[in-house]
Amino acid sequence: MKAAIISKPHGDFEIVERPIPTPGPGQVVLKTKACGICQGDSIVKDNHWHLPYPRVPGHEIIGAVHQAGPGVEAPFSTVGKVFGVGWAGASCGSCANCAGGRRDQCRMHIMTGINFDGGLSEYVLVHASALVEIPDGMDAAETAPLLCAGITVFGALRKNGILPGSIVGIQGLGGLGSIGVSMARSMGFRTVGISTSDSKRDLAFSFGAEAFVNTSGDGAVEKIMAATGGHGLDAVIATAPSAAAVEALLPGLAFGGVVVVVAALDRNLSLNPGLMLKNNLRIVFQTAGAAHENAENVRFAKAFGIKPLVERFPLERVGEAYDRMITNKVRFRSVVVFE
Ligand SMILES: NC(=O)c1ccc[n+]([C@@H]2O[C@H](COP(=O)([O-])OP(=O)(O)OC[C@H]3O[C@@H](n4cnc5c(N)ncnc54)[C@H](OP(=O)(O)O)[C@@H]3O)[C@@H](O)[C@H]2O)c1
Ligand SMILES: [Zn+2]
Ligand SMILES: [Zn+2]
Repeated sequence: MKAAIISKPHGDFEIVERPIPTPGPGQVVLKTKACGICQGDSIVKDNHWHLPYPRVPGHEIIGAVHQAGPGVEAPFSTVGKVFGVGWAGASCGSCANCAGGRRDQCRMHIMTGINFDGGLSEYVLVHASALVEIPDGMDAAETAPLLCAGITVFGALRKNGILPGSIVGIQGLGGLGSIGVSMARSMGFRTVGISTSDSKRDLAFSFGAEAFVNTSGDGAVEKIMAATGGHGLDAVIATAPSAAAVEALLPGLAFGGVVVVVAALDRNLSLNPGLMLKNNLRIVFQTAGAAHENAENVRFAKAFGIKPLVERFPLERVGEAYDRMITNKVRFRSVVVFE
């Protein structure tokens, strides 16, 4: 099989030939149909976590069961059945976090495409506990981005006490943010697309935003106030990997507002405690969810017709697919397709 590896820190993608893996107990080999490219893949590409090399990145996987290992039961063992795999690469079911209902925070801390080889490969060996059921009839390339980008914004919008009818800003319109606008609108929020680029204005409206704010240049807070009728934002889902971008939005929040940071920020935040206290503001940080939440996220997207806008690439062009993401050119997710 062909696989795209990163063999050293800051290395380019290399296509290599490898044997198809054999599944051990509790494992499944998927024949990959599609794998999205997330900015989280830069953890491998740029050696953020100092992990061993080589590594196959990719944690937005859609694939069909090719072979199941001992102890794996139907439907996870059914050859040809389509599943997804996201960031959460395994859960034990019995540690304190799993037993407490936080399987995404399993203390094994096994992340797909980080701690084991991911989906930028014709076949991928995964843990059955990470498999996400995919309803019939969904296009693999349009579904793959839901497995990380989608679940992250889905969870951010659902888990932080944001009430229906709230004005929600989706800040940073990339892979996560573009899906976030559609999800926020589908959940009944009044949705504001917040971007540094006017080139994303029309697309933000097409995803369901009722207003669009370009925060580049002066007067970002005034623009937010104008877009929200003077109310401010009740919540912001911050997807841009920029601490400065988060700080700049805080004066644009309504009383009691919350910023949910899902991005990997580039530096520590600097906060004005007077502003935070006076307006009772909150900042929370949130990672992607577990496999069962991811299945809910995929079912939600199907029910509301949410289809990520994607650019499709063959595996041989994975380097170009990654570059278009990291240079903010892709609209809005690069997806490697295998058939
Ligand atoms: N919490 C989690 O579990 C989780 C899951 C997935 C990803 N992530 C993280 O979430 C972030 C976004 O991932 P993604 O895949 O959506 O990335 P992406 O497709 O590259 O989108 C990021 C967007 O942020 C904006 N942006 C980029 N650099 C910026 C800067 N310096 N200042 C202001 N805005 C900037 C751009 O939007 P505009 O052009 O609209 O301004 C860009 O399109 C990354 O940090 C990623 O590691 C976290
Ligand atoms: Zn990701
Ligand atoms: Zn566990």
